[in-house]
Amino acid sequence: MPELDSLQRQATDSLMLTGFWYRALPADQVHRNQLHKATLLEIPLVIGRDRQGQPFALRDACPHRGMPLNCGHFDGENVECSYHGWQFDAHNGQCELIPSLTADQNLKVDRIYAGSYDCEEQDGFVWVYIPDPGPPGAGFSPREEAPDPAPVIEKFSEKYKLAYLTADMPVSIDHGIIGLMDPAHGPFVHQAWWWRSRHSIHEKKKNFEPIPNGFRMSAHTPSSNSAPYKLLRLYAAADSITTTIDFVLPNLRREVIRAGKYWFSSLTTVTPITRNQCRIDVVAAWNLFRWFPFGPELLKFVFAKFVEQDRRTMELQAEGLKHNPHLMLIDDADRPAKWYFQLKAAHLEAKRTGAELKHPMSGPVTLKWRS
Ligand code: FES
Ligand SMILES: [Fe+2]
Repeated sequence: MPELDSLQRQATDSLMLTGFWYRALPADQVHRNQLHKATLLEIPLVIGRDRQGQPFALRDACPHRGMPLNCGHFDGENVECSYHGWQFDAHNGQCELIPSLTADQNLKVDRIYAGSYDCEEQDGFVWVYIPDPGPPGAGFSPREEAPDPAPVIEKFSEKYKLAYLTADMPVSIDHGIIGLMDPAHGPFVHQAWWWRSRHSIHEKKKNFEPIPNGFRMSAHTPSSNSAPYKLLRLYAAADSITTTIDFVLPNLRREVIRAGKYWFSSLTTVTPITRNQCRIDVVAAWNLFRWFPFGPELLKFVFAKFVEQDRRTMELQAEGLKHNPHLMLIDDADRPAKWYFQLKAAHLEAKRTGAELKHPMSGPVTLKWRS
């Protein structure tokens, strides 16, 4: 693949990828025998937990006349539509009862399905698999199961703590993701007296390599501006700390930091809610501070600060984006963003042709920037 110009015009397409798992709601917000609303990729969903605590996800529209099912009644097993009382199995959407039918009317009730989605609870979130749109008239068939289980956070010991943070961003999935992988905004957006000032900007060099469906910032001793790093330095010698950061389609950013027997691991996702709205969820697991009462709070404080700074920035950016400005990506700081768009295009192309994904990177690359 020919090297791209160092300056590239970029129009983001806001295209949302189907055929993947997405985080729908924090698990602690989904209660037994209750119905909750959520939106993923502009699809209205109703999410709940059955009597045993198993989560489920249905399309929030009755297949009869479109009434939102979240307005209905849920007995811990079946969802009953509030309009004409049709009942659906919460887990597979199969129709169980149509109250208006008389004994001699032989409509095959069990051939009717409410839209239903594969659903899993993993690391504190309810995940929903959004399949590719089915053929027209697919409303009478069971759902499509996900080919793989929902993504998990990598963990390196039996015991660990888990915490999450979530923030709504009024921008498309593309801006959410490239904002997340952008190294150059750090000195300007993430200033704090206890963290760094813009005067600490200096040249950095990082190695990247291709991985399936994504790319990796190779294991390295981190520079001082990664959030958990400063905390980790309390535990281990600086040169024994290594960190790896992966980005994998459609929206996964994994960061693993290891220092001897201590580790910190996070899985951040940018979830498309609508074309112009996304949500960032950071879920972290770690085995540090388990005996240190202020640890998790401190970590959460640091992350909350970062995420809030990003949220505020994207809120302001959304104002500028309203008028459809021409945008550009520059080398090397925006190269990861370019890879993201290329990966997305390669993924769609592979899907269209049935061939293997043609990875935009042919091998390891070193990028340099100042931040
Ligand atoms: S609209 Fe749901 S039962 Fe009629
Ligand atoms: Fe940021």
